[in-house]
Amino acid sequence: MRDKITELSRSIANFEMNDIVQLEAFRIQFLGSKSEIKTLFGELKSVPNEDKKSVGKELNDLRVQAEEKFTNFRSQLETANIEKESIDFSRTGESFTVGSHHPISLVRSEIIEIFNRIGFVVSEGPEIEDDWHNFSALNFPPEHPARDMQDTFFIEKGEKEMALRTHTSSVQVRVMENQKPPIRTISPGRVYRNEAISARAHCFFHQVEGLYIDKNVSFADLKQTLLYFAQEMFGEKAQIRLRPSYFPFTEPSAEVDVSCTICNAKGCNVCKHTGWLEILGCGMVDPNVLEAAGIDSTMYTGYAFGMGIERITQLKYKVNDLRLYSENDVRFLKQFTPSI
Ligand code: PHE
Repeated sequence: MRDKITELSRSIANFEMNDIVQLEAFRIQFLGSKSEIKTLFGELKSVPNEDKKSVGKELNDLRVQAEEKFTNFRSQLETANIEKESIDFSRTGESFTVGSHHPISLVRSEIIEIFNRIGFVVSEGPEIEDDWHNFSALNFPPEHPARDMQDTFFIEKGEKEMALRTHTSSVQVRVMENQKPPIRTISPGRVYRNEAISARAHCFFHQVEGLYIDKNVSFADLKQTLLYFAQEMFGEKAQIRLRPSYFPFTEPSAEVDVSCTICNAKGCNVCKHTGWLEILGCGMVDPNVLEAAGIDSTMYTGYAFGMGIERITQLKYKVNDLRLYSENDVRFLKQFTPSI
């Protein structure tokens, strides 16, 4: 009986299994009800009493050996199956919906890139501003009607009266106070004005304002920079024209029109048949503004400009109602190129 056990143990060890059919063959041969091991258990009673215990143990070990080999290979097969199932390279891909960038974000990035290319860096500041940064430092005298140009939301913050900034020129005051010329910066951001909401006006919108201060900065530099911007933004055929205007913080000041992108300056409803569209305000920084920020106005000059991102977006994407930008209607938003 011992020899038989040794022989069986060897065949268990040598039995090769590669698939489920061989696994089943192994089970029948060594663990089934008609297996030799089972028969040997039946014959155990004819073993002499003194050997019964040790032979019984050897037989038991043999069964354990067979069971272990069986369960090991079975679980190996199972894992292999699971792996096969979870990585099925032949399956068709599942599509998922990606969001799109908000048109204001798209145009803001484009404006920033255009000015980055000629050395302007982005600066940011708070949306809740004090009177100094939003008005006084920008040469708005107290009680001057210029303050009425910008219908302001005032808020109380402790003792101090604060305002939601009406333009990002406030950021430029902060830059001038903290940096020495040469300064070449653009400030994109959200601004607020107390206006009734309609297709053409909103109580908040977005601006990008630019500031360049150095020795010998001239109006010609300003004009050339704005022409460069218009052609990068609207195509190389774009033309600009400057009309005299007034801002408290610039002197001289101008409003800038770009040739109508919608009708190629031939005349249409959007440009009211003039061929021109107003896109921004600009001018040479008033010496009072430089001095208020601690910059020597006998040594340095500078130009500034400011534009509404909504306005540029309107011209670029032909959006005719300002309210669309903040209503979050997916039918509107999904028309803009996805980010990937
Ligand atoms: N701050 C002005 C506005 O809000 C725009 C502007 C900026 C005009 C710089 C001139 C120079 O409309």
